[in-house]
Amino acid sequence: MNILFQNTHERSFGTFPLKGDVLRDAMTAAIETGYRAFDTAQMYGNEADVGAALAECSIARKDLFITTKVGVDNYTAETFMPSVERSLADLKTDHVDALLLHWPTPGGDIRESLELLQTAKEKGFARHIGVSNYTVKMMRQARAIIDGPILINQVEFHPLLNQDKMLAAALETGIPLSSFSSVARGEVFKYPLFAEIGASYGKTAGQIVLRWILQKGLPITTMSTKAENIRANFDVMDFILSSIDMARIEALNTAGFRVVDAVKIPYAPDFD
Ligand SMILES: NC(=O)c1ccc[n+]([C@@H]2O[C@H](COP(=O)([O-])OP(=O)(O)OC[C@H]3O[C@@H](n4cnc5c(N)ncnc54)[C@H](OP(=O)(O)O)[C@@H]3O)[C@@H](O)[C@H]2O)c1
Repeated sequence: MNILFQNTHERSFGTFPLKGDVLRDAMTAAIETGYRAFDTAQMYGNEADVGAALAECSIARKDLFITTKVGVDNYTAETFMPSVERSLADLKTDHVDALLLHWPTPGGDIRESLELLQTAKEKGFARHIGVSNYTVKMMRQARAIIDGPILINQVEFHPLLNQDKMLAAALETGIPLSSFSSVARGEVFKYPLFAEIGASYGKTAGQIVLRWILQKGLPITTMSTKAENIRANFDVMDFILSSIDMARIEALNTAGFRVVDAVKIPYAPDFD
């Protein structure tokens, strides 16, 4: 069973681009709501704030699932391990639950970064390792390079984007996908279908989107600064979308909407 689908870990609270008091307030609301999985990254510049918020709450470390990501600037033998040790110090923990490579190495030569990631796990810095924003080809390469399980490839995944090739690659390589930008940074709310379907389940548009992703088999990662949205995004486990509604939502993927692409992130790969 995918570790992310145990307890509350299938619903992760994202922390980008939050910092300081806004992050503290959002995390407090998330913890009170029931979130136990938190997603941060070196590149977000907020690991110390995340660590402070987690240290303040009364949740036992074993009940938390902390994910961080190594930034592309730290993919060298000199910088990788020191950067992970800094992340752990900032997060006030001796290990993270998932350590991901945030982006493929610019230029596409991913071997060294994957080998360093594996070494970080062997050193006990991470219980699980994974990747993010990998293409199909890179998933195959990672499978050949890494000796052992790869927890996830965290990718943009929501109903406005066709990720069938990535889902097929997940099956082929045994690397599960995990969803970021699960409500497409609000873009989904431009589509009346979600609220229309939501009316028949007594759920909001956002909850329908998130439930669709969970029923596609992916854990979700959502960020919100509003207690009401934080609660709604967590409250998605008490109903099941019918196969008809799943298919109606699926049909929206011709929108081809991406939050993250090479225009916004210059080192983004050529996505499948
Ligand atoms: N691996 C990567 O490269 C990568 C890339 C992007 C994101 N991520 C991770 O994934 C997390 C989530 O992604 P994201 O922040 O890009 O996108 P997101 O969760 O799809 O969207 C966040 C935005 O949507 C709004 N929102 C959230 N829930 C809502 C709801 N129920 N109703 C109405 N509006 C809602 C929030 O506004 P309000 O504050 O007003 O609610 C916020 O502006 C990030 O925080 C980060 O941890 C990873």
